[in-house]
Amino acid sequence: MDRGMVIIVGALLTFASSWLGLVLLPYRQLQNQQPYTASPGDDPYPRQLSEKALAGVGVYSANGCLYCHSQQVRSARFGNWWEGGEMKTGADIRRGWGNRRTVSRDYLHDRPTLLGTMRTGPDLANVGSRYSPAWQHQHLFNPRSFNAWSTMPSFAFLYRREPVEGGKRAETALRLGREWTVNPGYRWRPTDEEWDRILASQPGLADALKAANPGHFDVATPEGKARLLDFWLTTEEADHQVVPTADADHLVAYLLELRKAETPLPEAKE
Ligand code: HEC
Repeated sequence: MDRGMVIIVGALLTFASSWLGLVLLPYRQLQNQQPYTASPGDDPYPRQLSEKALAGVGVYSANGCLYCHSQQVRSARFGNWWEGGEMKTGADIRRGWGNRRTVSRDYLHDRPTLLGTMRTGPDLANVGSRYSPAWQHQHLFNPRSFNAWSTMPSFAFLYRREPVEGGKRAETALRLGREWTVNPGYRWRPTDEEWDRILASQPGLADALKAANPGHFDVATPEGKARLLDFWLTTEEADHQVVPTADADHLVAYLLELRKAETPLPEAKE
């Protein structure tokens, strides 16, 4: 134990150097970063999030979106040296996830930054430029309504299924066939008995199908029966609707404002 002093000084130096490299130097380098204005009079980039979107950040964190989604666009040059040329991995820009790589300035207003750790799903740094509000709501309500293969969980608990009041749908109601809305979060299929009961209570169903799909088919054949069921499942429920809760509304406002990696920045060359 005559090396006590060496061990203590060594440990101190180890911690001091990592503090210097990981805390002090980045802090000195980045502390004065300002929003970027291309020419005087332009709106500075990045913009502050709206009130609604800020509330959406909380919903995004609370529901663990960042365990499956990153918010960092990789440079077009990212990849392994042996792949070379056009075949480099991580070509986020070619996938349409942004126009350039993301840099520290893109995250200037983010508290906390939600960079994410893994990419089970696509990168969301610039997802606001890709989809409409209606698409975002339907996808959150049930991702399988777009992609049967999607492994993203349904966030149906952020939506409310309620009776339609006075025959008038809410403007915000999702436009979805009953197969998705009867049992939110799942894809519903009636049992044989349920289907018989539905057919008995809906005598006009076959006529409605024929009106919507002019052509020759017979609802008495197995193929015609399958089409009738398909028609029933893909039309909207008349007496019920699915509307977003405030949380869903805030979350979608946030997703729509995610537009990093779009405005050019001088320090993001590729
Ligand atoms: C278990 C992993 C997982 C979680 C958790 C998850 N997602 Fe996803 N997400 C995916 C996968 C996989 C896809 C691709 C398939 C699809 O479009 O459904 C995806 C796709 C998306 C897309 C479409 C992106 C594009 O460019 O097509 C959006 C938007 C999205 N997720 C938002 C969210 C939000 C918001 C949350 C949190 C409420 C969330 N995701 C939670 C796995 C996940």
